[in-house]
Amino acid sequence: MPDSQITLLTRDGARIEVPCASGDTVLDAAAGAGYHLPAMCHQGTCGLCHARVTSGSYEMSGYTESLLPGRDLGDVLLCRCTPEGNVTVQLPCREDQIPRHQIPLRDAVVERIEMVWERAVCLSLRLQPHDELGVAADFAPGQYMELAIPGTGIRRAYSLANLPNWDGLIEFLIRIQPGGQFSAWLTGQARVGDTLTVRGPAGRFVLDEASPRPRCFVGGGCGLAPILSMLRHLAEFQDSQPVHLIFGANQEAELLPESEIAALRAGLPQLTLTLAVMNPGPAWNGFVGTAAAALDASLAPGVTEPDIYVCGPPKMLLAVEEVAARHGLAGRVIAERL
Ligand SMILES: Cc1cc2nc3c(=O)[nH]c(=O)nc-3n(C[C@H](O)[C@H](O)[C@H](O)COP(=O)(O)OP(=O)(O)OC[C@H]3O[C@@H](n4cnc5c(N)ncnc54)[C@H](O)[C@@H]3O)c2cc1C
Ligand code: FES
Repeated sequence: MPDSQITLLTRDGARIEVPCASGDTVLDAAAGAGYHLPAMCHQGTCGLCHARVTSGSYEMSGYTESLLPGRDLGDVLLCRCTPEGNVTVQLPCREDQIPRHQIPLRDAVVERIEMVWERAVCLSLRLQPHDELGVAADFAPGQYMELAIPGTGIRRAYSLANLPNWDGLIEFLIRIQPGGQFSAWLTGQARVGDTLTVRGPAGRFVLDEASPRPRCFVGGGCGLAPILSMLRHLAEFQDSQPVHLIFGANQEAELLPESEIAALRAGLPQLTLTLAVMNPGPAWNGFVGTAAAALDASLAPGVTEPDIYVCGPPKMLLAVEEVAARHGLAGRVIAERL
């Protein structure tokens, strides 16, 4: 007999019942029932397994508190969340986005490491042939992969920045974090020809291609990579729906370069762009403030309500969710937290 019952609710209204033994986390109970929810560290430090408990009591312990600015709203990390009775959990994904099997590991070889702009490195890898998966890079724009530093158990999640292809090429845009372990490997030891273990694709931050609404993308820093992949996909398919990109940075130097903006505009002539800078220099004449404030300003009465895709750190996501809720668009936010 299970000690309690977990009800998993998905964005598309599915209801999944999962038995939970005493002391199990929601993540383990779901995996035990064959639902492999996104997770990486299993230690409350990467933030990948976030969700919201909407009813029931639970215990949360041993996690990085900055990952959960919405703790008062029921936000949890499923790998650290132990039910104390029956609970209901709202997942930020559709039912068909929950893998029913473990995603296998595979090898990939480093082809390019290039500093592309301020503190941002483009890392290109070539997937090696795999018995089940073949060689193609098959993913939905917006998804991520886990990359392991060779010879260590250290893994980090990075969003795919390029488009799916038959040649097995996967590209990442990685912002260098001073003192960070993957960052140190990438800028210090990594060489063309190195082999890495990778796992993926995974993740539920993907385009709702059936939606007839305009699309608004909100990103900052390393949150640009999945958005770039989505925008490149829309350009490839000559999508004609209105697109607004809001990109937030602390300083002008962290904004995406002119060459990237020109490439995006060439593929998506309908693109409108807002660059939001928190602490600009005296010459800046664009928007001053956060990406969430820029979104707020763009959602004026009379504007057709968009789907809002946001990717960035937890605080930025919470701020965007608050703005969306104030404009009656809470259900329109599709979010990826880094
Ligand atoms: C789904 C997902 C997708 C992502 N996509 C991208 C992407 O496309 N591009 C991207 O750049 N990033 C992305 N990230 C973030 C990425 O996974 C890493 O978290 C990031 O690159 C930092 O990794 P690191 O190993 O370099 O730093 P870490 O070693 O994890 O350290 C991070 C920071 O914490 C500091 N730190 C570490 N340990 C301590 C300590 N004990 N005390 C104090 N400070 C400490 C470090 O100095 C560093 O500044 C994504 C994350 C997720 C969850
Ligand atoms: S899997 Fe990393 S926080 Fe839960």
